[in-house]
Amino acid sequence: MQRPDGPPHPPWSPERTREIARGRRDEPGPLLPILHDLLAEFGYVDPGAVPVVADVLNLSRAEVHGVVTFYKDFRTTPPAAVTIAVCRAEACQAVGARELAAYASDRLGLSFGQTSPDGSVHLTEVYCLGNCALGPSVMVNGQLIGRVDGQLFDALFGPVRGGA
Ligand code: FES
Repeated sequence: MQRPDGPPHPPWSPERTREIARGRRDEPGPLLPILHDLLAEFGYVDPGAVPVVADVLNLSRAEVHGVVTFYKDFRTTPPAAVTIAVCRAEACQAVGARELAAYASDRLGLSFGQTSPDGSVHLTEVYCLGNCALGPSVMVNGQLIGRVDGQLFDALFGPVRGGA
């Protein structure tokens, strides 16, 4: 089993942002697709992207900013290097997910929904990862891991410390 890696996103760049925006500017309603592309590329929508996209689409910065801030999917800060999502749905709950969730929170020093101050780890909850037969299930940077107990959690995340 692999240890969690960092996210595959390159650092944000205005040049790449302009390229992405130009690639879609002639489509109908291009703003949302462009923002989704930026999210996929960089993992977030950097505030510096707002004037670039506004310029390419001939919109005001306020218009672009308004859309970015309206949809909570468009995070404006880089994602944590490691995102740990613990399944808290029923099937996993039945095989120890509640205990695992408490253990994970305690070991990382983070509440669910929290990111460590250094941005290295984010702890979140999900409701079913489609891996119910192998619960408790955890998703780490998109990689699904089953039958996670405290021992496996420590083996995976021993060096990862969030808050505390
Ligand atoms: S309930 Fe956890 S993976 Fe389905």
